[in-house]
Amino acid sequence: MERVVHHLLSIAEVDARFFLRIHKRALELETLPSAQKAEILHGAYVAQIFSEASTRTRVSFEYAALSLGAKVINLDAHSSSLSKKESLYDTLLTLFSIGLNCFVVRSSDSQLEEVAKTELGSKIHLINAGNGICGHPTQALLDASVLMQHCGSLEGKCISILGDVERSRVARSNVELLSKLGMTIKVFGPSELLPKKPWSDAMILCSSIEEALEGVDAIMLLRVQTERAGHVNFSPAQGYTESFGLSQKRYESLNTKAWIMHPGPVNRGIEIDSELVEHEKSLIPKQVARGTSIRAAILEAVLAGEPHV
Ligand code: CP
Repeated sequence: MERVVHHLLSIAEVDARFFLRIHKRALELETLPSAQKAEILHGAYVAQIFSEASTRTRVSFEYAALSLGAKVINLDAHSSSLSKKESLYDTLLTLFSIGLNCFVVRSSDSQLEEVAKTELGSKIHLINAGNGICGHPTQALLDASVLMQHCGSLEGKCISILGDVERSRVARSNVELLSKLGMTIKVFGPSELLPKKPWSDAMILCSSIEEALEGVDAIMLLRVQTERAGHVNFSPAQGYTESFGLSQKRYESLNTKAWIMHPGPVNRGIEIDSELVEHEKSLIPKQVARGTSIRAAILEAVLAGEPHV
């Protein structure tokens, strides 16, 4: 009997078994005939509330829900009553009163976890689509899924995460998940953008880019999140790619087979040379593609067994 998943709030609630279940189901869903897929959540509604900008996560969740036969309602935070200071709790209560019970939420803080603890939280399903710098669990699940497909078992493998690590919800969720799956995670970036201490025993804070790239199976680049200047003031200057990112010259000089990853959005020519984005060793388009099937598997796991009509 599969464990019932009520919410997906963070990687803290994900173990290797759940990851493998979602990974396997995502691969199955990728080959399932459309008509069969459209029966899975036929009659269900999924509401999306995005208070921070998104392209990949919002569209892939919507695509996933529609392909499973669900209907999707999008609430744009800037044109909804959230912009009139209505709380996330009251927004969700309002939408629940309308008849909705499954919510994909991107926010700048941790209000979602608070809502999940309430009585309302026990009646609705909440999926974290990225919250501030805290976490982005579905991104980590899709990254691990793509890595597993290309590296085989992740036990004993090593990934380098470069760039704006401290302010990255993707890095936080990936370090947590990839540690659970047996990987070592080396991180490197400008000192202002690195955590003071490792977030897990499997995380190594490197002191040079050479150390960070030595013998790794994959390299993940992160964008410098200048929009989060409140946490620290840093703008990438000339030479950033060579010092803290991945240039084509450095990648070729490594003589490596390491896969190239990036959660997006990519700032070409800053954290990664433009030529590497669509390089034969780049998994970046595959990460985006896997996003739809992983998110479909998550929606199914959350809503499975509920009457939708
Ligand atoms: N990786 C990611 O979360 O991209 P978006 O912000 O475009 O959704």
